[in-house]
Amino acid sequence: MRPTVAPFPAARFRRLRRLSALRDLAQEHRLSTADLIWPVFVRDGEGVEEPIASMPGVVRRSVDRVVAAAREAAELGIPAICIFPFTDASVKTDDCVEAWNPDNLTNRAVRAVKAAVPELVVMTDIALDPYNAQGHDGFVVGGEILNDETVEALVKMALAQAEAGADILGPSDMMDGRIGALRAALEAAGHQHVAIMSYAAKYASAFYGPFRDAVGAAGALKGDKLTYQMHPGNSNEALRLVERDLSEGADMVMVKPGMPYLDICRRVKDAFGAPTYAYQVSGEYAMLQGAAERGWLDGQKVMLESLLSFRRAGCDGVLTYFAPEVARLLGRP
Ligand code: PBG
Repeated sequence: MRPTVAPFPAARFRRLRRLSALRDLAQEHRLSTADLIWPVFVRDGEGVEEPIASMPGVVRRSVDRVVAAAREAAELGIPAICIFPFTDASVKTDDCVEAWNPDNLTNRAVRAVKAAVPELVVMTDIALDPYNAQGHDGFVVGGEILNDETVEALVKMALAQAEAGADILGPSDMMDGRIGALRAALEAAGHQHVAIMSYAAKYASAFYGPFRDAVGAAGALKGDKLTYQMHPGNSNEALRLVERDLSEGADMVMVKPGMPYLDICRRVKDAFGAPTYAYQVSGEYAMLQGAAERGWLDGQKVMLESLLSFRRAGCDGVLTYFAPEVARLLGRP
């Protein structure tokens, strides 16, 4: 049913734009602090906050500083943080064993945060790239990214993270069959309350560049991720992936990157109505921050406008490096 539009002058759209209060009343979509997931980078050390050159305003934090960030998130009303490890080249190996070490950086950070701020949701990343000497999300043998062997490793990684206390696991690797394998392993191990947010429609994107600097994977990575991440030209494939991951037991699904893929967010939400999230990735953040630093854009305004676009496109929430800044502006939900 199409809404009726009276001919001019009966219909004057400017009537409802005249006052700020009228605009508020007529506003269809809103951004709230409750929609934010804050990705944070953890590194080793004590009392360290180390800037990341390609992501102005974002730092790598030692575990104690991640705990401080978690307290800040809770105070600001941000519901969740997502932890990504910056691993030293010395722990990156071909067999990626550090990925399921119960005492690796991620798991130590998860335990510390859950002990200090139990009410804050902690999300983790499941993929081998921070621990892989080859920089890929899966095992590399003879130039090939192995699928099934990688899924077995992801299961070990997931169980270690669940054991550490993660509330949401975020498989970002794009291997086939991993959601079903993770869900079955979590159930069998008594972790039936742990949620999975599948990076279901994750594109092989050049917008991840600054992130790979942030986690120290840029130097290790040879080639691209086109044999496992999606081709940017595809859209129906995203729906099939989301359907597959939901049917295997994903609780939430993600589209990534964000702004260049808002059409995918909308299609996913319309098709399944599942809890749907977008990741405003490092390159999107860097573009906006870079232009704002030069005075070419109003940083605050483009930050809020870019995040509102995700809500309009049907997303229930957004992973964004702007989370604390936005929360300070918008206030507690
Ligand atoms: C790796 C991973 C990536 C991001 C999150 N998890 C990078 C990649 O796939 O190469 C990107 C996040 C960002 O760019 O902000 N599994």
